[in-house]
Amino acid sequence: MQSSVLSGKTYFIRTFGCQMNMHDSERVSGLLDSCGCLEVAEPAEADIVIFMTCCVREAADTRLYGQCSSCKSLPAPPGGKRVIAVGGCIAQRDGAGLLTNLDNVDVIFGTASIAHVAELLEQAFVEGGHHIRCEEKDSGAATDMPWHRAENYRAWVPIMTGCNNFCSYCIVPYVRGREKSRSFEKIVDEVTGLVRIGVREITLLGQNVNSYGRDLFGTPRFAELLRAVGDTGIERIFFTSSHPKDLLPETIDAMAEVPAVMPQLHLAVQSGSSRILKLMNRRYTREQYLALIDQVRERIPDIALSTDIIVGFPGETEEDFEQTLSLAEQVGYAHAFTFIYSKRAGTPAATIEDPTPRDVILERFNRLVKVIEDGAYAYNQHDLHTVVPMLVEGTSKKDATRLLGKSPKNQTVHAPIPEGYTVDELIGKIVDVDVDRARTWYLSGTVVGSPR
Ligand code: SAM
Ligand code: SF4
Ligand code: F3S
Repeated sequence: MQSSVLSGKTYFIRTFGCQMNMHDSERVSGLLDSCGCLEVAEPAEADIVIFMTCCVREAADTRLYGQCSSCKSLPAPPGGKRVIAVGGCIAQRDGAGLLTNLDNVDVIFGTASIAHVAELLEQAFVEGGHHIRCEEKDSGAATDMPWHRAENYRAWVPIMTGCNNFCSYCIVPYVRGREKSRSFEKIVDEVTGLVRIGVREITLLGQNVNSYGRDLFGTPRFAELLRAVGDTGIERIFFTSSHPKDLLPETIDAMAEVPAVMPQLHLAVQSGSSRILKLMNRRYTREQYLALIDQVRERIPDIALSTDIIVGFPGETEEDFEQTLSLAEQVGYAHAFTFIYSKRAGTPAATIEDPTPRDVILERFNRLVKVIEDGAYAYNQHDLHTVVPMLVEGTSKKDATRLLGKSPKNQTVHAPIPEGYTVDELIGKIVDVDVDRARTWYLSGTVVGSPR
């Protein structure tokens, strides 16, 4: 789709939030590329600056205001006029209301309106003024648009959009709409096409992939999808996120039996207290979660488990928090994202009073981080003095002589660049690393054998 107005214009895109938003950004870039635009690395060089926003926690909101305001002091671009666009979850939530605080924004597009970005930008260049489109109800359409991938060896593949779960603290269902699964055939075809062009690793994306297909077939078909995607020849499959209440035995079987499904599972627990889980509307208890972990470990003994945990949910007591600590100790996560509860207007939890002082919450948060770190350190010791296949992503930010990549368990791995190779030759290759150091957040060692 060439556009005479947009053709030749430069754009800069910055993304906040989750993988779903990052993938949406790839769709926006794909659309602009197809209009003849060119991506640049700095907002100062860009005719079009796009912010793909997140509102899951308050901090993400605040950052947007800072970034948009800083655009005001940029020098004018070569074309004379710069258009500022805001997409993603804040745009969907606030729509035109964003203009109250951000007077320099020209275009606002919601999570389900990505297909209209080019026409909105064109209108902003031609007519000036504000152009807003947030009314579309589901974002299924964006998943079938062209996309621009940063890497040619791995890719995100959205399998569904939206969320039906309404956890009491979470804004996502309000800004992303209800669950909408992509067609089974389209997903498998997309992965087949990716394999054909050399992609080796995919991550299947959805807010709750375990319920994939419920809206299409009346029953979830995620296990079947894993098997079908596994038959395409793709070498590594990850997926995120999984809601514990919907993780079925047949999915655990597929994970154990499909060789390409990597031994890694992100299973957000949020709290170790059944009382808090009930207030969170998570629809499982501590005991049910732990029983699920046992089932998963029975089938895939050395699986790397990761999770999300919220500290400071309104009314969480010391006793509740200690339940979370003991659950984290018992599970021994390889990785965890820990968050301090952030009140989100419009969610049910926002109406619950919380007498807990902030410093108590911070102190609990730090205790949890320590338990998570100890667990991750202990988990990584399993791989010390073993050979781990690393998919090379590039070099370490701190040391350009060291390769950086990921293990099948999604651990970060480092190793010196082997003699006779350049980094560019190795990006996207799998190299075996003989691990001689296992730390909390990485493994490191020496490359052995030949890259493949
Ligand atoms: N659908 C995913 C799941 O349930 O596993 C989670 C997606 S959400 C974008 C990522 C994480 O943000 C959640 O798992 C939760 O831990 C955290 N989160 C969501 N709302 C929050 C809030 N109001 N305050 C703090 N953390 C929050
Ligand atoms: Fe938010 Fe819960 Fe949906 Fe995850 S499952 S996106 S935490 S409402
Ligand atoms: Fe944020 Fe929206 Fe993702 S609120 S975490 S970008 S779904």
